[in-house]
Amino acid sequence: MHEFRYEGTKLYCEGVPVETLVRKYGTPLYVYSEETIRAAYSRLDKAWEGLPHAICYAVKANSNLAVLRALADLGAGFDIVSGGELQRVMAAGGDPARCIFAGVGKSEEEIRAALKAGIYCFNVESEAELERIDAVGRKLRKKAPVALRVNPDVDARTHAKITTGTYETKFGIPFEKIRRLYAKAAGMKGVKLRGLQMHIGSQLTSVEPFEAAVAKVAPLAAELAEVHGIEFFSIGGGIGIVYRPALASGDPKWWFSPEGRRMITAEAHAEALRPHLEPLGLKIILEPGRFIVGNAGILVTRVEYVKQVGNKTFLIVDAAMNDLIRPAFYDAYHEIVPVEKKARRTVVANVVGPVCETGDCFCRDRMLPRVGEGGFLAILSAGAYGSVMSSNYNTRPLPAEVMVRGKRHALVRERQPVEAIWALEKPASWQESATKRAKRK
Ligand code: LLP
Repeated sequence: MHEFRYEGTKLYCEGVPVETLVRKYGTPLYVYSEETIRAAYSRLDKAWEGLPHAICYAVKANSNLAVLRALADLGAGFDIVSGGELQRVMAAGGDPARCIFAGVGKSEEEIRAALKAGIYCFNVESEAELERIDAVGRKLRKKAPVALRVNPDVDARTHAKITTGTYETKFGIPFEKIRRLYAKAAGMKGVKLRGLQMHIGSQLTSVEPFEAAVAKVAPLAAELAEVHGIEFFSIGGGIGIVYRPALASGDPKWWFSPEGRRMITAEAHAEALRPHLEPLGLKIILEPGRFIVGNAGILVTRVEYVKQVGNKTFLIVDAAMNDLIRPAFYDAYHEIVPVEKKARRTVVANVVGPVCETGDCFCRDRMLPRVGEGGFLAILSAGAYGSVMSSNYNTRPLPAEVMVRGKRHALVRERQPVEAIWALEKPASWQESATKRAKRK
């Protein structure tokens, strides 16, 4: 479900031709559709109608201030994983009282700042962290609200690098140990028990692992509500999106994988989990990241060269793995389409970036419409874990980002000036500059 589509031969984001944006702002360029973000949020909200719930958007997926502002305006809460993300949320006008703070390695400084800001809850990932939060709470004479993150040991059947709910991973507290830790927390002066949390992984494409995990953990939530008076159960994020075919997906209630498997939707997810959650009488928290922003962003890039090596064609583009690392890092599939659909002829090509790594590749042996030098391509479904995972590798400036709403567009992150990349660096005090050395000689 998104607002990227062709009108005639031209790719549009909402009411704006993407070509207009690249002419104005240059490439590589992230383009976000505000309407798509709003629609995804509302769709999820509606799927949970009638059950007390809160949507805490996972800031890590895309933390641009304009994205956060759009979600804050919709009444979203936020799932944060660092002191920096908390500051960002506040800078965007988000409410700290709607923030839950996750992550396995919260520093004392981060805990102190979050407690002072008045966040809704800390999601605690270990006994040592619980003790640290308690100590900070006592020092500040506050009771830090906490939820313990239970690791249900359920395989999410997604990519190994984004699986979090098994005992092979560093996340959460083993299911068998959780009751003892709640009892311990109940006796602590610096914390108060507020909820229970879990998250089994990201880009889940079927409902079954969610259902297995919720079925296993819901009785625990009921018990904790009774014994410790917790008020919420957060079932985490992880709802997968359609990467293939991204452009044709429309707004399906049901969708199927290329192999014909029935895939997850917001509605299917809610429908399957409701029977387990409704009887609890607890507030249900959702922590979606990708579902909200994934299909709401594209990365637009310019073809610099077309290179033929033997029988292979390489489209060398001006975006690279430093701008969007998902294909290189997870072998992730992203659909690639031309900004202007001129040619009927196709080409089987590898789309690659300028970075000096073989892995700097957006797709291999993919059938694409023929695009020549100077043509523009759009890499779809790049709204989540795109810009946020970008780096300055090869001293490449971070790309610009644009938000579109209807016929309006606004630059929401300036292209990074190249000097900014080394602005915090300097030679060591004992190193002479080349000019000085030359003068001495
Ligand atoms: N809650 C917790 C505790 C999480 O660890 C995550 C994601 C989320 C919520 C949001 O998950 P989502 O709804 O976006 O699936 N960089 C990877 C994804 C990493 C996900 C990390 N945790 C990628 O590009 O696929």
